[in-house]
Amino acid sequence: MNIQEIIAKKRDKKELSTKEIDFFIQSYTRGEIEDYQASALIMCIYINGMTEREITDLTISMVNSGEVLDMSDLGTVIDKHSTGGVGDKVTLILAPLISSLGLPVAKMSGRGLGYTGGTIDKLNSIPGYKTDIEIEQFKENVKKIGISIIGQTMNLAPADKKIYALRDSINAVGSIPLIVSSIMSKKIAAGADKIVLDVTYGSGAFMKTMEQAEELSKVLVKVGKLAGKDTECVITPMEQPLGKAVGNSLEVIEAIEFLKGNMLEDVKDVVLELGSHMIKLAKKGDDLEKNKERMLENIFNGKAFDKFKQLVENQGGDVSYIENTDKFEKAKYIMEVKINKSGEIKSLDAEKIGNLCVLLGAGRIKKEDKIDSSVGIVLEKKTGEYIKEDDIVAYVHSNDKEIGEEVVEKLKELYCV
Ligand code: URA
Repeated sequence: MNIQEIIAKKRDKKELSTKEIDFFIQSYTRGEIEDYQASALIMCIYINGMTEREITDLTISMVNSGEVLDMSDLGTVIDKHSTGGVGDKVTLILAPLISSLGLPVAKMSGRGLGYTGGTIDKLNSIPGYKTDIEIEQFKENVKKIGISIIGQTMNLAPADKKIYALRDSINAVGSIPLIVSSIMSKKIAAGADKIVLDVTYGSGAFMKTMEQAEELSKVLVKVGKLAGKDTECVITPMEQPLGKAVGNSLEVIEAIEFLKGNMLEDVKDVVLELGSHMIKLAKKGDDLEKNKERMLENIFNGKAFDKFKQLVENQGGDVSYIENTDKFEKAKYIMEVKINKSGEIKSLDAEKIGNLCVLLGAGRIKKEDKIDSSVGIVLEKKTGEYIKEDDIVAYVHSNDKEIGEEVVEKLKELYCV
């Protein structure tokens, strides 16, 4: 068996065998297949797809590329994951909120992918926060304070870590086989029993239509069941960015505000919807509306915010930044955006806004690129709102004057009034 034959088979739209898929995954993880060969195969999968049997094999191989955690001594452990979005800071809010209700949350998150942001890049904008702790420490944290959020730096689904970075740099992200294997391998390896998945659709999501999101959900649930995990999908819109802030530390600040009770409606809808399903799946409450009330109670009594501070402190982060968000480093240039028109905003393309944030440095073009935590866009006005001619519709946060000015001009064009 060799990689050229496997690439040729997928290039010619043929089905790969279990052995061929496993050969690719294990050899690539060990560094025996070059990045350019793996890229070619990934692109063939992206273009020609996979059968459900191939997707299941791919997921299992990716799980077996590393360790699988046994979290059974921690009771029912719950996890959540999003299929990707722009301005999606839901994990930063939902994980501590659910944990504050007494449900252990053990979460392995990803970094930014394409034009979407990643929880790990956001957490890394908090000085000192360690996303690459040891497995034992990860388990210990969940045991001690009921929550841990880590990145893929440990030996959990290492194949996904490598393939994820490749997909990002070759623009091969929005593919059902690649998304399912990426998400489910991480979830299975991290040992959670119950998984709630936020399957997004719209311009800022990888699935552009509701039908595609339904199709993705079907496969995610099927693979989850095969792995013996209770898996539920909640389909949510991602036509325009979620909330106001897009960019790493800007989103952390918005999440902190939410946890302090200053909740933006669209973010609140997604947080409550997903959270109420997580509580139900964990068998801690069948009534979704009551679950939402319990969640709101823990926002208003400060327990969710306290849990977030505990999480940050426990993973080495500087809590003074959480207590006083003015401490986060600001971008050098904060530029006003005005469009000199009045009327209702008809649309605001999330994918294009995500790409503008990548241009500012909030995401990566090459897999080795460093993220600039302070840059991004804050949308003061969004779809459905009425604006007057001299309203400031957004702010662009940039560390480069020319790039900032370019983004201001391009952002103006995205406001359809
Ligand atoms: N999140 C992931 O972890 N993987 C994907 O492919 C998409 C979103």
